[in-house]
Amino acid sequence: MNSSQSNDLHIDPSLFPGLDVYAVAGNPISHSKSPAIHQSFAEHSKQAMHYGRLQPEIDGFAKAAKAFFVVGGKGLNVTVPFKLDAQAFADVLTSRAKLAGAVNTLWIKEGKIFGDNTDGAGLVRDLLAQGIAINSARILIIGAGGAARGVIGPLLEQTPKCLVIANRTSAKADELVKLFAGLAASKEVALESRALSDLADSEITQYSFDLVINATAAGLNDESPLTAQAVANIFAPGSFAYDMVYGKTTSFMQQALQRGARVSDGLGMLVEQAADAFLLWRGAGLAKIIKPRSVLEKLRS
Ligand code: ATR
Repeated sequence: MNSSQSNDLHIDPSLFPGLDVYAVAGNPISHSKSPAIHQSFAEHSKQAMHYGRLQPEIDGFAKAAKAFFVVGGKGLNVTVPFKLDAQAFADVLTSRAKLAGAVNTLWIKEGKIFGDNTDGAGLVRDLLAQGIAINSARILIIGAGGAARGVIGPLLEQTPKCLVIANRTSAKADELVKLFAGLAASKEVALESRALSDLADSEITQYSFDLVINATAAGLNDESPLTAQAVANIFAPGSFAYDMVYGKTTSFMQQALQRGARVSDGLGMLVEQAADAFLLWRGAGLAKIIKPRSVLEKLRS
């Protein structure tokens, strides 16, 4: 690694006098689009800030984050594999960060570290911006890891008709249903768990879904969690298939397209969760100025 790379990945706020310094922390992190997204927001809203990349050692998040804040860093976005470490690092958690079980946004205020999770709000805003109705929809989430858990609360808040969580290891889907049962009941949403294999069984899964969200890690390896039979069962031509992975048409998206469904990758969610983090840091008053949808268009072009 040359010295400029090393500076980029171990950002030191004292190198940017007069600017408020933020960064995204992950490992690996060199591929991250977050610096480009936040610099665009900062330009639109004329904020005097710098946003860089931080790559802590796999077991060194707390040490790196502490060093960043001690020398004047203002806030961090946190990505794989540090979202649980970030939750443990925060002194104060928002209620949605507690429910999500993970933190993707940290900031310092009066000497205390605050942690929030903007992933689910980002997904909801991206879906609504794409014209997808969540209220009264039949929703299927595939996966029961951290990515799924982070978005269930904000989806339930939109009062879908039902939310089914299907996972290869069905016990993990059962656990998520238990965790969110109170919120689902308060919103009068039917919340159910399934084994992934149940999706192929038309006696168990008797209807197609308006919205199917792939929150598994399968897309990263160019695999789909769905068999052909499950695809036939869960998609109808009016369905919308959303993969949280971004930057490619995944096997999951291809299967949905073949069934006549509309599809989206997760780039819009990335931009929208970044927008929420930016507004937490810089002030909600900038919401009308930062234009996440035009930042998204620029990233896609
Ligand atoms: P994350 O925090 O990104 O959600 P995770 O906690 O490792 O990551 O969870 C990954 C999710 O993808 C899990 O739901 C996992 O299913 P299991 O709980 O059964 O392990 C799911 N997953 C990963 N690869 C998969 C595959 N090839 N097919 C189906 N599900 C898969």
